Amino acid sequence: MSKQFAVIGNPIEQSRSPELHHAFAEKTGIDLNYTQRLAPLDGFESSVKQFFADNGIGMNVTVPFKEQAFALCEQLTERAKIAKAVNTLWMQNGMLHGDNTDGQGLVEAIQALDWNLIKSKILIIGAGGATRGVIYPLVKAGAKEIVIANRTLARAEQLISDLQHAVPEAQLKACGLDQLQGDFDLVINATSASLSGDVLALPDNLHFKYAYEMAYGKPSSFLDQAKSRGVPTSEGFGMLVGQAIEAFSIWNGVKPNLKDFI
Ligand code: ATR
Repeated sequence: MSKQFAVIGNPIEQSRSPELHHAFAEKTGIDLNYTQRLAPLDGFESSVKQFFADNGIGMNVTVPFKEQAFALCEQLTERAKIAKAVNTLWMQNGMLHGDNTDGQGLVEAIQALDWNLIKSKILIIGAGGATRGVIYPLVKAGAKEIVIANRTLARAEQLISDLQHAVPEAQLKACGLDQLQGDFDLVINATSASLSGDVLALPDNLHFKYAYEMAYGKPSSFLDQAKSRGVPTSEGFGMLVGQAIEAFSIWNGVKPNLKDFI
């Protein structure tokens, strides 16, 4: 029987994980079956337990269950502990293991674009779960200074007080959206503004070499403004592929090449 994998979330129909994992399997010659599981909002834990009791090998976790997955795991990777969220589950020695591959997915997508992260100065707009998950991998990949700009300044400050100790080699700073200014190598939009069709205004005295939008498949005022300045840009499909590749390599011990799938 093929190895069984699944992505669990609510809603779940929009997930592109089955298509990606089947494409990786074809490329690497691994026999697997990867399905979608819709869990009721109060039924995440029982759905996960059932999947592994039925000899499932690995699960991806998506909205709104990543924090619940974190709480359920008996063993966590360092980056999952720091993110306080889990998107990749597997059983090992009878224990539920959890990792968070989202941040590494972003790093690999940026590296595949040949955008330099070594000693970089990065501006991240947004201070929610998406930002929390990427700080540690960005610093491990070489970022030296990260400014977190958020509509609600207190949330950016809280995130920094939670995370600075985990990345002592980098400097983290908070600012409000009304204080966006200065020179950056890279600016990342980690807000949900594009998902809700809201406009993010990038002022003229904010300068950057590259712009990355974590969302994909939606109009993005953030990307439109970056493009109109002639700056290289990317939307978040590469990050999605990157997190999937990282999960695939944890489960199957083989790492597909990101550039083959973007
Ligand atoms: P996620 O887990 O995807 O990060 P989240 O935790 O709900 O989602 O965080 C959403 C982020 O987008 C927050 O930083 C939010 O800013 P606030 O903390 O001030 O709410 C930001 N955001 C959402 N809509 C926005 C908008 N229209 N303009 C600016 N920031 C916005």
